[in-house]
Amino acid sequence: MNPLLEARGLNLRFGAVDALLDVSLDLYPGEVVGIVGESGSGKSSLLKVLAGMQGADGGCVTYTDAVGTDHDVLNISDAARRRLMRSEWGFVHQNARDALRMNVSAGGNVGERLMAAGARHFGKIREEAAHWLGRVEIDASRMDDLPRTFSGGMQQRLQIARTLVTRPRLVFMDEPTGGLDVSVQAKLLDLIRSLVADLGLAVLLVTHDIAAARLLSHRIVVMRHGRIVEEGLTDRVLDDPQHPYTQLLVSSVLAA
Ligand SMILES: Nc1ncnc2c1ncn2[C@@H]1O[C@H](COP(=O)(O)OP(=O)(O)O)[C@@H](O)[C@H]1O
Ligand SMILES: [Mg+2]
Repeated sequence: MNPLLEARGLNLRFGAVDALLDVSLDLYPGEVVGIVGESGSGKSSLLKVLAGMQGADGGCVTYTDAVGTDHDVLNISDAARRRLMRSEWGFVHQNARDALRMNVSAGGNVGERLMAAGARHFGKIREEAAHWLGRVEIDASRMDDLPRTFSGGMQQRLQIARTLVTRPRLVFMDEPTGGLDVSVQAKLLDLIRSLVADLGLAVLLVTHDIAAARLLSHRIVVMRHGRIVEEGLTDRVLDDPQHPYTQLLVSSVLAA
């Protein structure tokens, strides 16, 4: 099986800071890879570079699409990147407000993505939007309400419905349970886990929450100061960490 996404030797500097130092990573179809590390370790930078949202100073990223065409992500045109974001890719932001249109109804937020992907039949779009609101446990009676009347957890579930309605193959997630109450986080993680499994999604999950990474990821990559210091199957990395930094991270000494 060929990787969906293949990154080699990524480097990225911000002034004197090495945000990424010789980072290489493969992601296979249906695989969930957790990218963990303390704040400032380069997790979000890596995710943005892999999604073509941020350039790099060196290295390459190749995405192989559903029909087997390779895309050079670091040199992709804006139009081609937007096309991927409307079809095969999805991005879940920590802050749902960065992804949702706050002055458009919940159903509209989901339906809009379908329209951007080419759907035209209003009745079917509304039906599909209702279906997806149901899948993220938002009551049908809230379909015509604005997202700003929703709780943080509901907004995040709406963002997830908006992302998944177009059936992406690859979803980038940056701290998807970040700013939420702990009890809400746990429910949301369970929901993400079941959706990801049902849909067979490939996911790159950035999180500083080791418990979230354990619950969702097949494989874990540990970053520190822009480098990958350890990677492997989730249970192996978390139950038998080899690198001293991973040992600290797992023992929660560095929990942010
Ligand atoms: N746009 C930027 N301009 C300057 N420095 C940045 C920028 N983005 C990230 N950095 C720096 O790069 C390093 C990695 O940041 P980031 O990727 O956001 O880490 P993480 O997501 O793990 O918290 C940090 O030192 C951060 O301050
Ligand atoms: Mg970050």
